Amino acid sequence: MASKTIPFLYLLMILMAKTDVDAVIGVNWGRESAQRLVPSQVVDLLLQNGVKEARIYTTMEDLLRAFVGSGIGLSLTVNDLTVLQDYNQCLKWVQRRSPYFNVSSVRRIYVGVYPFVFGLVNNKAGLKQHMKVMYNLQKALNDADWGRQIKVVFGHSSDELKPNITKPSEAEFLDEIKPEMEETIRFLELNSAPFVLDMIPPLDLEKYKLDPSFAFVGESTQVIKDVNGAVYTNIFDFMHDAFVWALIKLNATKVKTIVGQVGWPSDGYTRGNASTVERFFKGLLPYVSSNKGTPLRRGAPIDTYVHALTDENKMPNNFMRHLGIYHSNGKPKFKIDLMGLGRDIYPSSAKGIMRMPERWCVFNGNRTDYPMVEQQLKHACKNSDCSSVSPGSSCGDLSPNEIISFAFNMYFQFNFQDESACHFNGLSFITVENPSTSKCMFPIEVVRGQQENYSRPIPKAKGYHHSPNCVVSLFLVSLLGALFWN
Ligand SMILES: *[C@@H]1O[C@H](CO)[C@@H](O)[C@H](O)[C@H]1NC(C)=O
Ligand SMILES: *[C@@H]1O[C@H](CO)[C@@H](O)[C@H](O)[C@H]1NC(C)=O
Ligand SMILES: *[C@@H]1O[C@H](CO)[C@@H](O)[C@H](O)[C@H]1NC(C)=O
Ligand SMILES: *[C@@H]1O[C@H](CO)[C@@H](O)[C@H](O)[C@H]1NC(C)=O
Ligand SMILES: *[C@@H]1O[C@H](CO)[C@@H](O)[C@H](O)[C@H]1NC(C)=O
Ligand SMILES: *[C@@H]1O[C@H](CO)[C@@H](O)[C@H](O)[C@H]1NC(C)=O
Repeated sequence: MASKTIPFLYLLMILMAKTDVDAVIGVNWGRESAQRLVPSQVVDLLLQNGVKEARIYTTMEDLLRAFVGSGIGLSLTVNDLTVLQDYNQCLKWVQRRSPYFNVSSVRRIYVGVYPFVFGLVNNKAGLKQHMKVMYNLQKALNDADWGRQIKVVFGHSSDELKPNITKPSEAEFLDEIKPEMEETIRFLELNSAPFVLDMIPPLDLEKYKLDPSFAFVGESTQVIKDVNGAVYTNIFDFMHDAFVWALIKLNATKVKTIVGQVGWPSDGYTRGNASTVERFFKGLLPYVSSNKGTPLRRGAPIDTYVHALTDENKMPNNFMRHLGIYHSNGKPKFKIDLMGLGRDIYPSSAKGIMRMPERWCVFNGNRTDYPMVEQQLKHACKNSDCSSVSPGSSCGDLSPNEIISFAFNMYFQFNFQDESACHFNGLSFITVENPSTSKCMFPIEVVRGQQENYSRPIPKAKGYHHSPNCVVSLFLVSLLGALFWN
């Protein structure tokens, strides 16, 4: 009896505490993968999980249409910036989309992914181009009377902060981007638009040399004391307030903040596995929805977007490929309560998914012509995703032959099991025996018939956090070389 009553009361308390200004938990959905869920399935998934906000990385119509009538607040991303340099073009852009805005709930428009990275690599022209789009697009929205509802924003990564801080109050934007940052912030203030900060906690922990336990809300053994009695016990508060301090130093004390991206890879990285990610969000999401705020923003709801919905196996580096709550075939990877109630639940599985048949392409074990094996392995990895065999990853313990099979199979699945994609100069064959091991999954993907047309080019690695960008094929070749020749 008691064991049932307590969680119920707990739930009731949380529900009663909810008000209109609660922090929102959103989810980001990118499509940089060989296999993609259909937009209507994604909207269905979000609704089933009680997700109220989403961000997409495009303005492509097939996606936009799927969200009509869903009630899900949507953030879009404009990537084609040349046309939008001009105010009149921006106005046309807005007018063309007004019927859509009328039947959906678009809340924000991001300009690119990380505009300030251009400033960091000494490409001020690139940064200015993004800023010009921000100004003209927001002005066009304002003039078309959408400005109160729709805000134009940038995403900001911690690469924009000076790297060697030991507490949030030491944070400051890098000198080389300060003038543009000030200008941007003044514009955000003028339009009551939020400053969007992004976090990749495992990388931030490494960068600031914080204790691993600092990742998990309520579990930290490290305590960081800052000025004015502020105390930090988790990376979320630490990073958020580091940005707030950097803003304060530019006299921006009122600008609202949201967390546009927070994620942790479940594979392809030594500090990432499904149980770690589960533990991370289990602490974080109820904390976000409690509206406790951070030491600098006590009681302020901080809208937070989980990154990301699905894995993206075409991302430019290993680290970015396994950030999904779901595998790219719609299977959930770990437990997560996206309503922030802290329930011990798996998110619902994508419905209506059709997977390809259970067949795999594997290596036949013939290593006579080693250079050819090496060449075929490189080819397979270069054109698919071998991040799961990198050291410390789910398939990092496979034998050399199994690694080659893994690579061949990934290539085969990337090509939707086309038989010509299991050739490898006679080194492979197709099998119906599942080569997966207890730790390492040889995945089966979604059928080609369910793919939406999609032809957006893949973004360059530059612009993402300085991540451990392990070049898998090189690693593999040296590994195999050592094993074969010894
Ligand atoms: C949008 O809705 C408003 C109010 O219902 C209406 O006045 C306006 O004409 C609509 N605009 C478009 C482009 O459909
Ligand atoms: C960070 O490094 C810079 C340059 O090396 C130095 O001037 C600054 O004082 C350092 N800041 C902290 C908080 O250690
Ligand atoms: C912030 O405001 C103070 C006082 O008005 C001024 O002295 C300072 O230069 C300002 N700093 C920036 C970065 O704008
Ligand atoms: C996941 O990673 C953590 C921390 O690195 C480790 O302690 C744990 O054993 C790992 N779990 C699995 C299932 O590999
Ligand atoms: C193994 O590969 C070599 C070179 O590619 C080939 O000549 C040989 O016939 C193969 N052996 C078998 C058993 O298939
Ligand atoms: C997909 O879209 C591109 C660009 O809009 C178009 O050129 C191509 O023919 C389309 N492919 C399919 C299969 O519809």
